[in-house]
Amino acid sequence: MADQLIIFDTTLRDGEQSPGASMTKDEKLRIARQLERLRVDVIEAGFAASSNGDFEAVKSIADHIRESTVCSLARANDRDISRAAEALRSAPRSRIHTFIATSALHMEKKLRMTPEQVYEQARLAVRFARNLCADIEFSPEDGYRSDPDFLCRVIEAVIDEGATTINLPDTVGYAVPELYGSFILSLRERIPNADKAVWSVHCHNDLGMAVANSLAGVKLGGARQVECTINGLGERAGNCSLEEVVMAVRTRRDYFGLQVNIDTTQIVPASRMVSQTTGFVVQPNKAVVGANAFAHASGIHQDGVLKARDTYEIMRAEDVGWSANRIVLGKLSGRNAFKQRLQELGIELESEAEINAAFARFKDLADRKSEIFDEDIVALVGDESVTSEREHYRLLSLSQRSETGERPQADVAFSVGEREHHAHSQGNGPVDAVLKAIESVVESGAELVLYSVNAITSGSTESQGEVTVRLQLGGRVVNGVGADPDIVVASAKAYLAALNKLHANLDRVAAQG
Ligand code: KIV
Ligand code: ZN
Repeated sequence: MADQLIIFDTTLRDGEQSPGASMTKDEKLRIARQLERLRVDVIEAGFAASSNGDFEAVKSIADHIRESTVCSLARANDRDISRAAEALRSAPRSRIHTFIATSALHMEKKLRMTPEQVYEQARLAVRFARNLCADIEFSPEDGYRSDPDFLCRVIEAVIDEGATTINLPDTVGYAVPELYGSFILSLRERIPNADKAVWSVHCHNDLGMAVANSLAGVKLGGARQVECTINGLGERAGNCSLEEVVMAVRTRRDYFGLQVNIDTTQIVPASRMVSQTTGFVVQPNKAVVGANAFAHASGIHQDGVLKARDTYEIMRAEDVGWSANRIVLGKLSGRNAFKQRLQELGIELESEAEINAAFARFKDLADRKSEIFDEDIVALVGDESVTSEREHYRLLSLSQRSETGERPQADVAFSVGEREHHAHSQGNGPVDAVLKAIESVVESGAELVLYSVNAITSGSTESQGEVTVRLQLGGRVVNGVGADPDIVVASAKAYLAALNKLHANLDRVAAQG
């Protein structure tokens, strides 16, 4: 039987460290549920000791996830490790991932510790963690730029103390494939107890080689765990992308000879969910999950694919979860059909009130849009006015006028708590006028740091527009998402959703690893 490659997803921890990608507890739980449907082996849910918000998010994921192992990051000290263990208590399978930097640069400049102190702290941290949890991962941060002799000493010691996984981070994305692979192999050969742990790769994408480096760590170095994120989300240029690694190992099984547990048909839904939640749009030519990844535009390619699919296709779109924009429901569909479709899409709404709110939105949409696709339903449920019980600002109606040569104007009616407000403004464009009108009443003072609009289903101007708005206020960053066939309305919804998060304190400042 082929060896198993463990897929360790860190979208909710390392991915979330990306500026602007921080998520609320509910958003993290929703993504964790999708990761479980994707059948990832390990979900790194967060960094419990970094903030109360992250502690609660890890705890909530530990409370709900039953199949995947739930993991929390912890610095190599007793307090962090205890917080991680406490947050993970209810998970059927849990892991503590503890780390400390081992490169000369990080030890001297960042930690201000001697190598001997780092060695001792790593050892004691793993010993402490092992008393709280059977599954312990240890990472020497900036491991790839660390002195190999020192690294061997540290790793041998932490395995002796009970570390079950050894992860070798290329923290700054400096590695190249062959060297990273042989680095891991040489450590495994030199460390006498290396075979007592699973070896893992963790690569950042600064030079665009995170996936190549990870695969080299597996193929040449013998690692059997890959740490990765959906859409390659992560700080700077991001992390190794889950969908690319998984599909490489699947498609080139002849070369890698490895097996993964992943249900690949859940890849595109996971990609959409992460992009929608964080506002990080997926580039059209991104492998596997980009809108063009399976689009054959040239006549020669189209002709070839029609004659025999494998002339130009090495994977099937449906195997990674691209559905052919199926029309699923319409104006006459009832609540039961809607509820069943939610179940088929793996969407779990918490309460009957949420289902009712989503169904009301669906009916409203079906009145204005003749064909409702799966993607429309996913967006509708992602709309925070459906899933959030803490809606302080709510759009009631809007109208806007734009004419060539005239300055666009907007009138917006919305409620703030129990009170109804009417606001008017002009703007550079209709969206600008609407947001300015809202702001003239709310006076949040927040800075708009991102505005993006996407068509939910491709190929038609009838599609719903999905707008993401990112607001920054002080040190806080929040995302708001809104969907509607009218992108000006979608913009107002997204803006109000972001204001709701600022109001309800649902934002999180990303944990620092
Ligand atoms: O990149 C890195 O070094 C990390 C560690 C905390 C594992 O994310
Ligand atoms: Zn990292």
